Amino acid sequence: MIRSRIIGTGFFVPSKVLTNNELEEMVDTSDKWIRERTGIRERRIAEEQNSSDLATKASANALKMAGIKASDIDLIIVATVTPDMVFPSTACFLQKKIGAASASAFDISAACSGFIYAMDVADKYIKGGSAKKVLVVGVDRFSSIIDWQDRATCILFGDGAGAVVLTSEEGKRGLLSSHIFSNGNFWDMLYAPLNGSSNGLTASSAASAQKGGVKMRGNETFKIAVKMMEEASLEALRCNHLGVADLDLFIPHQANARIINSAAQRLSLPQEKIYMNIDKYGNTSAASIPIAMAEAHKAGLIHDNSLILLVAFGGGFTWASSLIRW
Ligand SMILES: CC(C)(COP(=O)(O)OP(=O)(O)OC[C@H]1O[C@@H](n2cnc3c(N)ncnc32)[C@H](O)[C@@H]1OP(=O)(O)O)[C@@H](O)C(=O)NCCC(=O)NCCS
Repeated sequence: MIRSRIIGTGFFVPSKVLTNNELEEMVDTSDKWIRERTGIRERRIAEEQNSSDLATKASANALKMAGIKASDIDLIIVATVTPDMVFPSTACFLQKKIGAASASAFDISAACSGFIYAMDVADKYIKGGSAKKVLVVGVDRFSSIIDWQDRATCILFGDGAGAVVLTSEEGKRGLLSSHIFSNGNFWDMLYAPLNGSSNGLTASSAASAQKGGVKMRGNETFKIAVKMMEEASLEALRCNHLGVADLDLFIPHQANARIINSAAQRLSLPQEKIYMNIDKYGNTSAASIPIAMAEAHKAGLIHDNSLILLVAFGGGFTWASSLIRW
């Protein structure tokens, strides 16, 4: 059976660190509140770099690990809700910047679930035989669409990019299945009326940031996120006739440490099987899962044949899971 196997992972985060203490100077909050309610200590902020710049660095790392050239890539899919511009797609900018001359390129918009959505689409191209090597990137520069006066949201997000190279391969290893879900009835729980990271909403346009920046009903979102992450996780396991005990690593979207722990508790997952890096990066939206996966791989937590469950939840609402035999 043809499967999509990950042969390269990479990530990139900007060097500028924004700590909780620095946020105390900007809004009425405290390091203690942020740490206790979210698990976040600091996040990275892109100053000059656009989403495609972050994606370019993450992709270069993934291509290096895969040991292939950009010109070998047939297809580029970028998951983002903070594209450089409304058009061209961030995937087209990325194609130019890495020199992937033979690739087709497009973006996917599914907020924090975007990376799993993009992997699902890539898998279908690979299984259908129309692509052999696919670069899948999750990138967001949320700092460009945040209302920096809203303490309920500005403390949560950070910027970054993560990438994987998928190859078409015969065998038992690779993406076993992915499952994507949406419910647009919940659109107004989490949304950003304006967008565009290169023409974004910054502190210098506070009025437009207030009008157009990210808006969230946090408490309600929290509860639904926990439930849907549990359900999507169980769906992936059920579909493959596997159980929680078979998992080697659980890599959830990093939105809030309490959401992750609640979902893991409902699944009876032991702490040592959960990968968490939210303390360093906050919620990097579509980038969060591929950053975590690349970090976990670098840290030696992923081996040949490891069984890995990815699960995400985000604006839309969208939610998704996928199961990988590494
Ligand atoms: C945003 C979130 C951290 C807030 O935590 P919470 O425990 O739900 O807190 P609430 O929103 O109920 O607010 C509790 C209190 O803290 C206050 N508060 C909110 N943000 C604060 C901040 N940054 N600093 C200090 N106090 C804050 C609220 O005003 C409220 O005060 P009140 O009780 O006087 O009204 C949490 O709801 C969350 O993480 N939600 C989901 C986030 C998410 O998943 N988003 C994206 C999905 S991809």
